[in-house]
Amino acid sequence: MEDLREIAETFRRFAEFECPELSRLYETLSRGIADDPEVLAIAAKRRAGQPAPNVFFAAVHSLLIKRPSHPVASFYPDLAACDIPADDPYDAFRSFCLDEQDRIIDMISVRRVQTNVVRRSSLMLPAFLRAMDRLDDEQVVLVEVGASAGLNLFWDRYGYDYGDGLCWGDRASPVQLKTAALGERRPLLPERTFNLAGRIGVDLNPVDIRDDDAVSWLRALVWPERGDEAELLQRAIELACSNPPRLIAGDAMDVLPGVFDSLPPHVVPFIFHSHTLNQFPADARERFVELVDCYGSNRDLAMISLESRQSQNNSELDLTTYINGVRTREHLAQCDSHGYRIKWLVG
Ligand SMILES: C[S@@+](CC[C@H](N)C(=O)[O-])C[C@H]1O[C@@H](n2cnc3c(N)ncnc32)[C@H](O)[C@@H]1O
Repeated sequence: MEDLREIAETFRRFAEFECPELSRLYETLSRGIADDPEVLAIAAKRRAGQPAPNVFFAAVHSLLIKRPSHPVASFYPDLAACDIPADDPYDAFRSFCLDEQDRIIDMISVRRVQTNVVRRSSLMLPAFLRAMDRLDDEQVVLVEVGASAGLNLFWDRYGYDYGDGLCWGDRASPVQLKTAALGERRPLLPERTFNLAGRIGVDLNPVDIRDDDAVSWLRALVWPERGDEAELLQRAIELACSNPPRLIAGDAMDVLPGVFDSLPPHVVPFIFHSHTLNQFPADARERFVELVDCYGSNRDLAMISLESRQSQNNSELDLTTYINGVRTREHLAQCDSHGYRIKWLVG
């Protein structure tokens, strides 16, 4: 079995770099787990390649969502019926994990970490609009790489509010996204209609929003302090359910050539990906860029990238357009990873 010291280090790094500002509960629990060989031995039984803290916490969360009256649930802000107890949650948490270890292992040995963060649409919206400006009046097909449940494929159906009256989209939509625009510059958000020819998602393991079990796991992946994210997820699923997106299962590098080749010549693909390329092996990341470059040399297209470069808590927004074979890349914004903040960088 994997060296428990390595997994302990993963939990320590998770507490230090990924939890601050997002989850005090997971930060505290991660520090406890990092020094607890019995709980680490459970987390070590996760599916190969999956980040242990995320999948382990989601498994425990999923059990507690079904048992919100359990004393451990009282430490979870999204489940607690009254004020969170002031005591250290770790002892109660570890007893729960040891009691429930068989069920936890059943989940983590098969499940993957596949969040679908709807508020990331807020970060990508200005890039979509800028791409439309560049590729005026074309028919667009959206192609999301690493789509998970494909909820960000419906970004044009959501309402957006960046503060100071900067709004866009459908104010009557059940999905209303609030994001703070920081810094001196503001993204341009022209109200415009566009000609959408299709929405296609590609994922190693697409999440079917009509499958209750898959949706429960998506919900369990949302961190306990992010009740607002859970609510948005639910609303976006309801909005998409009547007409779910087309999701193709497979490795993007195998599937994308077929997708591109199937598109009629007059449509412009808007390829986008958020918090996905970090899950590609390094050589696949390079091949992905080469593949898009190759298609871009033959047809107009846009690629929107929202990926973390330094820590998982931050992301960078980039737009690359290919117009008449000319490639133009712009670094548009710095953002947090969950869609709460965007700092626009260009005029
Ligand atoms: C962290 S999730 C992000 C999902 C979504 N883009 C979002 O921002 O909410 C990353 C997704 O990428 C998918 N993925 C990872 N490697 C992939 C690959 N080689 N080909 C296709 N999908 C992949 C995973 O299955 C997962 O659903």
